[in-house]
Amino acid sequence: MGEKPIRTLSVDIGGSGIKVMVLDDQGAPLTERERVDTPRPATTAAVLHAIQELAMGKDFDRVSVGFPGIVRHGVTKSAVNLHPEWIGFDLASVLSQRLGKPVRAANDADIQGLGAIEGNGVELVITLGTGFGSALFLEGQLVPNLELGHHPFRKGDTYEQQLGQAALDARGKKQWNNRLAKAIDLLERIYNYDCLYIGGGNAKKISFDLPPTVKVVRNVAGLLGGIALWRDQFPTRAVESNNVEPNN
Ligand code: BGC
Repeated sequence: MGEKPIRTLSVDIGGSGIKVMVLDDQGAPLTERERVDTPRPATTAAVLHAIQELAMGKDFDRVSVGFPGIVRHGVTKSAVNLHPEWIGFDLASVLSQRLGKPVRAANDADIQGLGAIEGNGVELVITLGTGFGSALFLEGQLVPNLELGHHPFRKGDTYEQQLGQAALDARGKKQWNNRLAKAIDLLERIYNYDCLYIGGGNAKKISFDLPPTVKVVRNVAGLLGGIALWRDQFPTRAVESNNVEPNN
């Protein structure tokens, strides 16, 4: 009998949903993805309670968490789309106490990127959901907490103000797509990336032809990337598999 493989509970905290899935030691899914709506108000207690409920009855040895804000050493430093209570909250330690397992946490877009990139050259990731996430990699090494979403984009607005869920709801798909095309053009000129990956729930709303260097990532990458937090060193090489949709 071999040793029992290590199982990772991967959690993706989003502005509209909290998703979980159990991964095997290679990062392959062992369970279906489960989702609950993000509680409102999204206080630390309410979100932790939702994660505990999702974890209940599942067999896992350790936990990876993607969080929609800056995360440094397991502590959440911003949470624009959740609740101010998260600023300075030791998410990894508190969740570890609650679940009785080791926990590692990182920015959600960073994890999405770890689940998608190939590890070659300059790879930029943006995620389109409630907020606008971003992650930057060089030869598979992450530059954590890029936070492009809150940088100026156009007309005095940030990327998130122009391309987040609220903008999509207010302006509609056509204008949102026009804005996204402009953002891609600008990001290409700033970063001269080898590849841009677009993830997040709203990536499926893209209705124009993307340039060949731009790829749409399956949303499940936000959970599959969680395994990378347990590699020997983090930030580290990209996961081998890539969860990219064929271009057309
Ligand atoms: C946050 C980022 C996050 C993104 C997507 C932004 O508002 O500042 O940290 O990655 O939303 O959730």
